Amino acid sequence: PARADWLRRLPKTELHLHIEGTLEPELMFALAQRNGVTLPYPDVDALRAAYDFHNLQSFLDLYYAGAGVLLTEADFYDLTWAYLERAHADRVVHVEIFFDPQTHTERGVPFETALAGIRRALVDGEAKLGIGFRLILCFLRHLSEDAGFAALEQALPYLDRIDGVGLDSSEHGHPPEKFERLFARCKQLGLARVAHAGEEGPADYVWQAIRLLDVARIDHGVRALEDDTLVAYLAEHRIPLTVCPLSNIKLRVFDTLADHPLRTLLERGLVATVNSDDPAYFGGYVGENWQACADALDLTRAELVQLAKNGIEASWMDDAAKARWY
Ligand code: HPA
Ligand code: ZN
Repeated sequence: PARADWLRRLPKTELHLHIEGTLEPELMFALAQRNGVTLPYPDVDALRAAYDFHNLQSFLDLYYAGAGVLLTEADFYDLTWAYLERAHADRVVHVEIFFDPQTHTERGVPFETALAGIRRALVDGEAKLGIGFRLILCFLRHLSEDAGFAALEQALPYLDRIDGVGLDSSEHGHPPEKFERLFARCKQLGLARVAHAGEEGPADYVWQAIRLLDVARIDHGVRALEDDTLVAYLAEHRIPLTVCPLSNIKLRVFDTLADHPLRTLLERGLVATVNSDDPAYFGGYVGENWQACADALDLTRAELVQLAKNGIEASWMDDAAKARWY
C-alpha cells in the first residue's frame, strides 16, 4: 500500500550495525567452502534453524562461531558489499558500522585484513551507491581491559581510517566502568565514543557510559526507561539511543514488537533511532525493522519522520551532509 511505499522511500540512516552480524548463512557456507573451513552444520537450513535465541549470550555464541569463516581481505569486502546492497535497497543513505577486530585477531587474522576489506567496500559504496559512512571499532567487553588496550595499539597506525570506538558483547557483569581508562585514552586520541548499555544491563550502565566513558550515543539503551532522572538527562542533552527493535524481540528483551517502547521513547523526547543490529541473525534489515514497527505500533507518518530526522541528527555526518537531508 501507499504507506509501505512511502516508508520504503524515506531516507534512512543505520547507526547500530555489526558488520559480522550481516553474515547470511548462504555467504557463511560459500566462504567456508572458499576457505576450506568446516562448519558444524550440514547446510544453510540447519544453520538457520539454530537461530533460536533466548538471550544475548546464546546469540553471541553463534555469532562468534560464524565469524570464523572470515579470513581474507576479500571475505571482509564481500561481507560488507552484500550489506551495502541490502541497505541501499532500503534507501539507507548513511551507515555507521561496527566491527569487532578482537574476534578476528584472536583467530590470527591481522587487524589490517579486516579493516582493509571493510573500508574498501565502504569507499565503493559511497562512490557507487551514494551511501555515506563512518567506521567504529568495537571493543569486546567480555575480554580484559588489557586486551582492549592491545586492540587499540594495533589500531594506532590506522586511526585516520577509524571514526570512533564502541563497546559490545556480553553486557551482564561487564559494566562500562571496566573500560574507563581505555575510553579516556581513546578520547585523548580524538576518537568519538559510543557504548552498548541498557540492552540487558541496568539503567546504571547507561549512566556509567555517559559519566565514565563520555559517549556521544548509547547503543540500545531501552532500559533507560527504568530511571526517570536518566530519561530526563538523555532528553536534555540530546544523547541519542540507537534502538534495534527486531533484535530486542529475538533476544527476548521484550516479548513482542507490540510491547516495544519505541513510541514511549519518542513521547519522552528522546533522540531514538531505528537500526538492525545483526540483521542476518535477527530476521530483518533496517527496512524490515521500520516496517515491522510501523505495523505493530501503528506509528504515524509524523512519528516515522521524527525517527528518520533523529537518525540524521544522531549521525556523525558533517553539517553539509546533514543539511541535505533535513
Ligand atoms: N549486543 C551486544 N553485543 C553485540 C550485539 C548486541 O546486540 N551484537 C553484536 N555484538
Ligand atoms: Zn549491537
